[in-house]
Amino acid sequence: MGQDKFKRYTITAALPYANGPKHIGHLAGAYIPADLYVRYLRLKKRDVVFVCGSDEHGTAIANQAMKEQTTPRAIIDKYHELNKHSFEKLGISFDIYHRTSEPIHHETAQDFFRNLNEKGIFKVETSEQYYDEEAKQFLADRYIIGTCPSCGNDGAYGDQCEKCGTSLSPEELINPKSTLTGNKPVRKETKHWYLPLDKYEGWLKEWILEGHKHDWRTNVYGQCKSWIDGGLHPRAVTRDLDWGIKVPAEGADGKVLYVWFDAPIGYISATRQWALDHNKDWELYWKDKETKLVHFIGKDNIVFHCIVFPVMLHTQGEFILPENVPANEFMNLEGDKMSTSRGWSIEMHEYLEDFPHKIDELRYYLTAIAPETSDSEFTWKDYQARVNNELVAILGNFVNRVMILMHKYFDGIVAGSGKIDLSDKAINEAIGNCYDEVEQAFESYKFRQAQTAAMEIARLGNRYLTEHEPWKAYKENPEAAREVLHNCLHIIAHAATCLQAFLPNTAEKIFAMLNLKNNLSFDDEIVFEGGHQLNTAALLFEKIEDEVIERQIQKLIAKKASLEQVKEEASAVAPAKENISFEQFSGLDIRTGTILEAEKVAKTKKLLKLKIDTGIDVRTVVSGIAEFYEAEKIIGQQVSILVNLEPREIKGILSQGMILMAENSSGKLSFVAPTESDINNGSVIR
Ligand code: 2FM
Ligand code: ZN
Repeated sequence: MGQDKFKRYTITAALPYANGPKHIGHLAGAYIPADLYVRYLRLKKRDVVFVCGSDEHGTAIANQAMKEQTTPRAIIDKYHELNKHSFEKLGISFDIYHRTSEPIHHETAQDFFRNLNEKGIFKVETSEQYYDEEAKQFLADRYIIGTCPSCGNDGAYGDQCEKCGTSLSPEELINPKSTLTGNKPVRKETKHWYLPLDKYEGWLKEWILEGHKHDWRTNVYGQCKSWIDGGLHPRAVTRDLDWGIKVPAEGADGKVLYVWFDAPIGYISATRQWALDHNKDWELYWKDKETKLVHFIGKDNIVFHCIVFPVMLHTQGEFILPENVPANEFMNLEGDKMSTSRGWSIEMHEYLEDFPHKIDELRYYLTAIAPETSDSEFTWKDYQARVNNELVAILGNFVNRVMILMHKYFDGIVAGSGKIDLSDKAINEAIGNCYDEVEQAFESYKFRQAQTAAMEIARLGNRYLTEHEPWKAYKENPEAAREVLHNCLHIIAHAATCLQAFLPNTAEKIFAMLNLKNNLSFDDEIVFEGGHQLNTAALLFEKIEDEVIERQIQKLIAKKASLEQVKEEASAVAPAKENISFEQFSGLDIRTGTILEAEKVAKTKKLLKLKIDTGIDVRTVVSGIAEFYEAEKIIGQQVSILVNLEPREIKGILSQGMILMAENSSGKLSFVAPTESDINNGSVIR
């Protein structure tokens, strides 16, 4: 096949934010296709580096730290490890999984900025931006939410509406609010560095609209065209935030690089680190015209990879540009949009926990339904059907039948002398056609088609075996049966060769059974010499039962419901009661007191008998707090007590007053007590 005009390949997969676990939609969007392409290039013995890593800056990380009440550093450490581990288990074969928090990345990104700044590329401007006076913070990106002007979603962020995918600026939000305090922001002046995309409109038209009309996917090309035709504007590449890479310029104190400025440079710094580790020259992978750069991403990242980053590379002057950006559309799940925050998702680590030995099954299914041209849909039942009807019934069954018959009839030995060839001409030709289609599909980033074409070899084999019935032939003519089975061994080896990018674990098992070297490349000859000994047959795939699938569906529904409940509880606040007069309020005599003794009331779950020093006297109060406080731990606790409540008998004890408690929406109780230590018992609360 052609395409060898490139000497080497730099393949990137979008750096996922390390703000949470990533789900199988992300996996299908960028990481599996990138991995397939890279594995194919390696099989073709091309020089390739495959880089990825965690995107660790920006308000997405800072927001998550706030949510989890921890630091951004703790967040990125946690999720970097989790995602890295999941990718590894799923066979995503990055050459490096780097981090944008590494010093080499900070240095690379700062150098890049400095270089453009020195060239006078940026426009520096002061303008009014949203500011939270309480948090003393400018509200960029995800520090601000409001109503999306495109779809009306009232949880749209200042950089993007996650519901409709529209990319936004804080100024476009209707009713903006700070995510830090919930306050309405004010306007305040601040200075920023802007990349003047408008100046490069002509260049982008020529490079994309004319240069890539025929080789970029329609969806990618279409998005670029509508951006360019709509008119481009300067984009700020700096932010007033603490978390991020310091802007290396005068007058930029307290400013960091915009996360979308530093993240794509992460591909370069990852390559630099990989080159250092492997004694390579990173510049060849980014600056040599004979290097092919390809970015694998989801459709929400198109503008950054096709417009913003290329303008950065172009204005820098020495870098190559992406040859292609095969962005995928989205993958939905059981009829709804996949979303971690709404609980409607299968996180990579969740799948791995439930199906640690079904890696290839997931890779296969996600490729079979890859959203290459339009959104697609993951359903557990379809997953089950694909595994059972294709992997088990076609590939697994074929390999298993051949291996068993070879062992049963011929002790697993390929008999004869010299090279034993595939003797069936028609099959030989059909396999050759499959290779051609697989390669052509890979070269044009059509991975669904490539997988179907590779599976066709197993289908051919299954049909060939069924038609030639060696189990019948064996009785009268064992040599004829032997020839059929030998041909089948060739077919299996070809199927494994073509399928290994998709099903690396399965291919490895097959090569081991056939006693051939692993990783046979497309150009290696498959050779069975007379006397070749096969290894024992191993089961490749297991049928997935209905119960397993039902359990997953129920789990998904339960996860969403429990998340909704938590959200509801967190937001449920009882409405205000009717007004009362000041006299009514003055009638309540509430004092501070201290618990002197506490014991459980026998035969009850909720009640504690408390002895309270009210400053006026020492009295007994029965209180329903035993589920939340252990008796011995609250001795000495200051409380608020309503002292003029009519005494009443509870479980035979006369309770003289009531302890005031705060109750949250899930019914949890907490003492209401003075925060200063010099409030004596008996102090009046009003
Ligand atoms: O959308 C995202 O998850 C971004 N973190 C992708 C960044 S891709 C690249 F530029 F690093
Ligand atoms: Zn929207």
